[in-house]
Amino acid sequence: MVRLRGAALLLAQGVRRIRRVQATVMLGTGHHWLPFTQMNAPEAHLRRFVRGEGSWLYDESGGRLFDAVSSIWTTIHGHCHPRIAEAIAKQAHLLDHATSLGASNPVAESLAARLCALTGMGHAIFASDGASAVETAIKIALQYWQNLGQSQRTRIVRLHGSYHGDTVGAMSCSNIALFNERFSAITFETFELGSVDLTSEDIAAVIVEPLVQAAAGMRTVSRHRYEMLVGMTPLLICDEIATGFGRTGTMFAFEQAPIRPDLLVLGKGITGGALALSATLATDRLYDAFLGDYLEFKHLFHGHSYAGNPIACAAALASLALFDEEHTIVAALSLAACIRRRLDSLRLHALVRDVRAVGTMVGVELHAERIEPRGSLTPAWRIADGLYRAGHFTRPIGDVIQFVPPLCAREEQVDSFFDALTVELGP
Ligand SMILES: Cc1ncc(COP(=O)(O)O)c(C=O)c1O
Repeated sequence: MVRLRGAALLLAQGVRRIRRVQATVMLGTGHHWLPFTQMNAPEAHLRRFVRGEGSWLYDESGGRLFDAVSSIWTTIHGHCHPRIAEAIAKQAHLLDHATSLGASNPVAESLAARLCALTGMGHAIFASDGASAVETAIKIALQYWQNLGQSQRTRIVRLHGSYHGDTVGAMSCSNIALFNERFSAITFETFELGSVDLTSEDIAAVIVEPLVQAAAGMRTVSRHRYEMLVGMTPLLICDEIATGFGRTGTMFAFEQAPIRPDLLVLGKGITGGALALSATLATDRLYDAFLGDYLEFKHLFHGHSYAGNPIACAAALASLALFDEEHTIVAALSLAACIRRRLDSLRLHALVRDVRAVGTMVGVELHAERIEPRGSLTPAWRIADGLYRAGHFTRPIGDVIQFVPPLCAREEQVDSFFDALTVELGP
């Protein structure tokens, strides 16, 4: 019996290997390890995008997919927007990169000034991914208190269900067990808002996602939840990596809450979705605490090789110009209104547990227990798979189907997505 089970296991492993080799040979994939993806699953090898235009992604077989998840909340004005592509090409011929460690460049300077003007912050330091910008914010907060002689302030407070990225510091501030638990040996302890006294003298900062906790399944947070943060001594870090650049109906979500950040973290949509860039913005008060004579070592001990990359900064400046030229916030508000019109009927569906939406960020939580899984697909993946076949690309978060379209999406594309979702859910 044991020998039979062993043979079956070996056979299954062999079949998986053959499938992997077939995929590698046929598609040349195999070597590209996809994040948060089971590489044995067929979709890991079947979905290959070769072109993008507006809200559309084109896959290798010529299929046209509506990017219903804005390529994980990055695409704003649509894929390959000519203005952004031109800005990238122009900058790539002029200055591709020069380090920001001890040197500056005019493109990064213009972008820092533009972001500060938009947010009311004082200074911007750049990185590439969101998680790196979160790490920067955490380290600025800790060093700020050290520079002020309060090095006992080391504790970080976070929201329930928070997510701030996958590097160790960002992960420590996150509260999604599935992502974190296997790495608990290297993360540090953080504390849930409401469970600690914010007047306590060892708290360095409170980190929040304003209004929407996207990775928690588009969990919405009431504006009142943030009231206790007003006037506190710990620094307030607002992580707008997912919510920034118009997704919630205002340029930044914090504008709709009773809070003003000491540190503001931006990423994803900052370049309109074209290139990796992130930024940590600080108030003048914070920045000033890092000034002094060199040998006082008050300057920030943190940085990344591609910080302030001129090509990425040029893309971001072009994207911000498009916000004015194409009236992107007005478009986002009317897109949000189209979306809202489709949600009421969805809420009544027997397979839908909850529908959550702020602006153009929508989560449809399923009654997963009422949906038959298929093969190794979870109920939500089964629905997402059906949507893919109907021409809509999204990625479930647990039992939640997410809809976060590019802000240039049109009403008929919204309708087409919700029509397809209704078909997939059935009567
Ligand atoms: C709120 C928030 N913070 C941080 C991150 C991490 O950003 P990145 O994936 O660019 O590292 C994410 C990513 O989804 C996010 O939603």
